[in-house]
Amino acid sequence: MRDTSAFINSLGQVCAIIGAQWGDEGKGKATDIVAQHFDVIARACGGANAGHTIVVAGHKHVFHLLPSGCLHGDKKVILGSGMVVHLPTLLEEIALLRSLDVDIVPRLTISHEAHIVFGFHRTLDAALEERRSKQKGKGIGTTKRGIGPAYMDKTARCGIRMGELHTDLRNELIQRKTLLEETYGVAMDVEEELSDLADAREQIGGCIGDTVEDIHSALHSGKTILVEGAQGTLLDIDHGTYPYVTSSSTTASGALQGLGLPPRALTSCIGVAKAYCTRVGEGEFPTEAEDSAAKRLRERGGEFGATTGRPRRCGWLSLPDLRRAAYLNGITHWNLTKLDVLDEEDVIPVGITRGEQGMRYQEFPGWKTSTAGITGYDSLPANARAYIEWIEEQTQSPVALIGTGQGREEIIVRS
Ligand code: IMP
Repeated sequence: MRDTSAFINSLGQVCAIIGAQWGDEGKGKATDIVAQHFDVIARACGGANAGHTIVVAGHKHVFHLLPSGCLHGDKKVILGSGMVVHLPTLLEEIALLRSLDVDIVPRLTISHEAHIVFGFHRTLDAALEERRSKQKGKGIGTTKRGIGPAYMDKTARCGIRMGELHTDLRNELIQRKTLLEETYGVAMDVEEELSDLADAREQIGGCIGDTVEDIHSALHSGKTILVEGAQGTLLDIDHGTYPYVTSSSTTASGALQGLGLPPRALTSCIGVAKAYCTRVGEGEFPTEAEDSAAKRLRERGGEFGATTGRPRRCGWLSLPDLRRAAYLNGITHWNLTKLDVLDEEDVIPVGITRGEQGMRYQEFPGWKTSTAGITGYDSLPANARAYIEWIEEQTQSPVALIGTGQGREEIIVRS
């Protein structure tokens, strides 16, 4: 067992792990290292559009709602007010954990302020995508998990929240059905929605509570809190590549808001970025690689979506985006992931400025040797260290964690 205590101590009481690109940066491994040392593990925003792969006893499982740190037996798990929760998905994840001998229910609290994602939100998500494709030739490329429509209801102030799970929602849902059919021509099965609500009430009705109280009482009693961000900074509804973004705030400040934590509570923010870059769905991607390089990165990096299975678009790092992520989130530590995916590249381009002619690149010499499984910084090839140190210098933030392979232990922890 290596000693990560200096790194863990440097995180302080409240740490957020935030994606710095378009999601799928590989936040799970940093979470895995950090979560075991924290008392409370929280998710703040978004819903089942996220997908994180957790390996238990050699088997891969994909979770969408529960934070990946929830496997650690004694942690309190919080789903915060900023989230949108699809109840059948949550019940499936709880059942999956149970089959792995983990009973999360006694230590799970779901905010009564979080919004419910209904089946009809998913149907509407798909219908809106189809409409956009017909009208504009392309959609946003959403995950079709009902995220946009659930946040539409939330901001229109007609959403249904977790706190209402205990009330009779039949009449409300019947009215929604009429509205949906008249406005969008979308069908809805009221009985199915009611049956999903009844299952959830029975199984997790007791988990609904005031998570703001919970998290503040944890804070005041000196407990440590890990905030697991979802998606990535460039998908943020305010600061991302709008309209090709998700419908929630994906930054550190968004996560604090989603949990009801004040900004000054955050003691550290680990910004997670791949050593290259990927994106799923539509939207700008100025450093997208040409076909053959994109294919190489996709194959070496296994770049297919965990939630949708879609092949990810692949390209190179963008310095302006990294800098922006650093200042939007107040990144105190970088986690550069999947460095080994670049092992065979002759040259590694990085986008450095965006001008009228598009992105200007700086090229770094590749290292052409395997970094797979390396756990000591000094064992990295000199060209890989030069690449990492250039990122540190340009973003004014240290690279504390470097992923060198899929395995749990294949990571460099610098202190
Ligand atoms: P939505 O969040 O399903 O509405 O999708 C909006 C955009 O965000 C689409 O381009 C999705 O592919 C992208 N997106 C949403 N969640 C994730 C994620 O967890 N990883 C990567 N992309 C995501």
